[in-house]
Amino acid sequence: MKALVLNGLKEPLTISEVDKPVLKEDEVLVKIKAAAFNHRDKWIQEGLYAGIKYPIILGSDGAGIVAETGSSVDKKWLNQEVIINPSFNWGNNDKAQSKDFRILGLPDNGTLGEYALCKAEYLYKKPEHLSFEESAAIPLAGLTAYRALFTRAATQPREKVLINGIGGGVALFALQYAVAEGCEVYVTSSSDEKIEKAKFLGAYGGVNYKTTSWVDDLKAMAGGFDVIVDSAAGEGFKNLVELANPGGRIVFYGATTGTIKELDPRRIFWKQLNILGSTMGTQKDFEQMLSFIDQHKLLPVIDKVFAFNEANEALDRMRKSEQFGKIVIKVDL
Ligand SMILES: NC(=O)c1ccc[n+]([C@@H]2O[C@H](COP(=O)([O-])OP(=O)(O)OC[C@H]3O[C@@H](n4cnc5c(N)ncnc54)[C@H](OP(=O)(O)O)[C@@H]3O)[C@@H](O)[C@H]2O)c1
Repeated sequence: MKALVLNGLKEPLTISEVDKPVLKEDEVLVKIKAAAFNHRDKWIQEGLYAGIKYPIILGSDGAGIVAETGSSVDKKWLNQEVIINPSFNWGNNDKAQSKDFRILGLPDNGTLGEYALCKAEYLYKKPEHLSFEESAAIPLAGLTAYRALFTRAATQPREKVLINGIGGGVALFALQYAVAEGCEVYVTSSSDEKIEKAKFLGAYGGVNYKTTSWVDDLKAMAGGFDVIVDSAAGEGFKNLVELANPGGRIVFYGATTGTIKELDPRRIFWKQLNILGSTMGTQKDFEQMLSFIDQHKLLPVIDKVFAFNEANEALDRMRKSEQFGKIVIKVDL
């Protein structure tokens, strides 16, 4: 089968002929119709991720059709249109993943190929109102946003929510979910154009975090926030503590700008803040996310659909933070 293979550190992805995966009894083979990139794929290519091995077929997001089923898998899955939950081996504790937790696309080969392998338990029916490309945009980012916003931060209708760095794939799902939940949502971005696009999706307003006055501007615009969703961390995190309402929750799932510095503990305990870490999600989170998307008939925001042979161009777009929404790869092999 054909696949996009990463052969080494900082190398481009190359289209290669590789062996079709061999099924175990509880596994299925999905003929991939569309896949999508996450920041994770870029981190792996740049050597900034734990447990990297080469060669590897990247891709945590995939939608397609079940082509083969292992001997113990219910045959009802054959020829079904599906999406894959890439959050493998979470374990029995809903509060945190087990030590065996792994994400599709490293160390196991991922979705950027003609076929992808997974256990049948990670298959879900493709949402009926969505195309393969739209469905492929959901899994990793949609799940991470769902758990962060609802399972961890327990966001309620009418709360004031700030999404920091709206250009991110996860951030955009968080915006769509919070708007659908009836929250008053604000955003930040490095791009005024992205703020305008976010308003089109239902945000009340936003500020450009590249300006020196963005924290004061945001306070003037919205007051404080009950829930803040972040993936940047780094030096700017202290501003989020400043922007949180007393009793508020700051939930974060990334550290794009590095280590959190100069955090004043007095601000945190005096304001009774909850600072919450979040990662991916459970099977239950995934199921609840799909029913939320179905209930609200949400359409994932897609930045651009690239052809299979344009994958390096697609990754470059992410590297430059040019995207607004998910970067999808059509897999029509
Ligand atoms: N723990 C998990 O389960 C999990 C899951 C998914 C992602 N992540 C992590 O979360 C981060 C985002 O992932 P993604 O796939 O959503 O990435 P992405 O689509 O590549 O988006 C990254 C976005 O981060 C924003 N950003 C960059 N610098 C910022 C800053 N100083 N302040 C605020 N925002 C800033 C930018 O927003 P603007 O373009 O609007 O400026 C950029 O578009 C990555 O670090 C990723 O590894 C973790």
